Amino acid sequence: MSSTAPSATAVRHTAVAAPLVNRAGRRPIVAIDGPAGAGKSTVAGHLAKHFGLLNLETGAMYRAFALKAIAAGVALEDVPALVALSTTTTIDIEPGQAGNRVFLDGTEITGKLREAGVTDGASRVSVHPPIRAWMVRLQQQLGEKGGIVMEGRDIGTVVFPNADVKIFLDADSEIRGLRRFDQIGGPSAKPPVQPEEIIRDIRARDERDRNRAESPLKAADDAVVLDSTHMTLAQVLSRAEEIVLSSLSA
Ligand code: DC
Repeated sequence: MSSTAPSATAVRHTAVAAPLVNRAGRRPIVAIDGPAGAGKSTVAGHLAKHFGLLNLETGAMYRAFALKAIAAGVALEDVPALVALSTTTTIDIEPGQAGNRVFLDGTEITGKLREAGVTDGASRVSVHPPIRAWMVRLQQQLGEKGGIVMEGRDIGTVVFPNADVKIFLDADSEIRGLRRFDQIGGPSAKPPVQPEEIIRDIRARDERDRNRAESPLKAADDAVVLDSTHMTLAQVLSRAEEIVLSSLSA
């Protein structure tokens, strides 16, 4: 997935004919974890289409709650106030194969979740144990029936420690920053941004996600680590397909 890698749309998206099941004949849970900018959404979206599964982006739930806290003027470090806010918050997520639609208190807010303040806010609210516990419960309810690719930071370690497939997607932070820079339009991005700023933001999020006390970002012991630093997108997607098939037949 170098910055000159083929776009995701150039990759085949043929759903397999028979529904994918685990050895017990149940629809599987595929956990994809990894740091910001590692390509989790691309890989998860591809696997969902290819294997006929739903794709649920758990980061969108933290983003939705951050959006609400910011709009309500609640400090992102004020745990009691955040917990109080959470008791009056409903987050619904409609997983699909072509991205997720997210609803906050009944209103669709999908288009607002990628703003910089929300991205940073999501990482900040996600350090608080009671907020995580709430999110984890919601995610477990959403995924319990299986037939799902769930991506995040703690899916294979906390949300579904018994997931049928666990992939930890990683890449060097500079490469992740440069890929993200390309994704948002490179030198013609609006508003203009320097690649160094994106790399710095990614490293700051990494630091917070990996070092928080509660469920820090780390690979589950039984996850397959897929480091895409020196791989093209097509190679990563094909390797991810192999990991799914080999994990389900192991
Ligand atoms: O995947 P994302 O960039 O949309 O996630 C936004 C933030 O949410 C990320 O900085 C960390 C947090 N997050 C988390 O702590 N646990 C998850 N399962 C998903 C996201």
